[in-house]
Amino acid sequence: MRRITVQDIRARKGGEHLVCLTAYTAPMAAILDATCDLLLVGDSVGMVLHGLPNTVGVTMEMMILHGQAVMRASRRALVVVDMPFGSYEASRETAYGNAVRILKETGAQAVKVECGPEVADTIAYLTRRGVPVMGHVGLRPQAALLDGAFKAKGRHAAEAACILAEAEAAADAGAFCVVVEGVAEALAGRITQNLAIPTIGIGASGGCDGQVLVTEDMLGLFDWTPKFVRRYADLRGDIAKAVRAYSDDVRSGAFPGAAETYFAMAKG
Ligand code: KIV
Repeated sequence: MRRITVQDIRARKGGEHLVCLTAYTAPMAAILDATCDLLLVGDSVGMVLHGLPNTVGVTMEMMILHGQAVMRASRRALVVVDMPFGSYEASRETAYGNAVRILKETGAQAVKVECGPEVADTIAYLTRRGVPVMGHVGLRPQAALLDGAFKAKGRHAAEAACILAEAEAAADAGAFCVVVEGVAEALAGRITQNLAIPTIGIGASGGCDGQVLVTEDMLGLFDWTPKFVRRYADLRGDIAKAVRAYSDDVRSGAFPGAAETYFAMAKG
């Protein structure tokens, strides 16, 4: 089995929709690998697994550790690792050093950067030096401190034009695909039409070339789910039920945990 490449993803423009999910751990990556075209080690890991209020506090070390886990457990999907806040904005040279560190230490095939007005130049610098880059436009979670909250973007014509221009600049700079987050259907459609590379939507309608979701959101792990997310499972409820059953077993003394059980298991 060979891994899906950035060239495969780029070639899917306008074709069968791309199936993408976030993955941060080995067991989750192992489950998702067979079905997903692309696994994103998103910096949302800071909020989903580490309890941070936003993605600003996520570090290179966190991204590398989770990237390594996902790479170890996957064999087929393309793995993209987010560059965390502060790792690519100061200069294109710093961005290159950090991107290369992520690729070398994780074995992932690409990095993702959020595309403010300054970032196209950095994307060009990275791609010309052999670093595959995925862009991210629209709602940019790393701008949480500036924006004050995760709000939909591009409602006004001027902002919509900016987002379209940022997506086009990322594509012109050599990005192999672009995440489009939290924008209205009409803008997502325009971006998708104007770009020669695939767009991957999140809260941006079905008008993109593919979709990505935070896996734990769509599996129902939290008591709150973003409005645009369909819950395909109720992990939170299932875990609570399982823990209650375990608790009942332990309290009633019906728990089969004697040493003999372990020896029997070891012998098969
Ligand atoms: O960090 C992340 O998980 C992301 C996706 C939600 C697109 O950027």
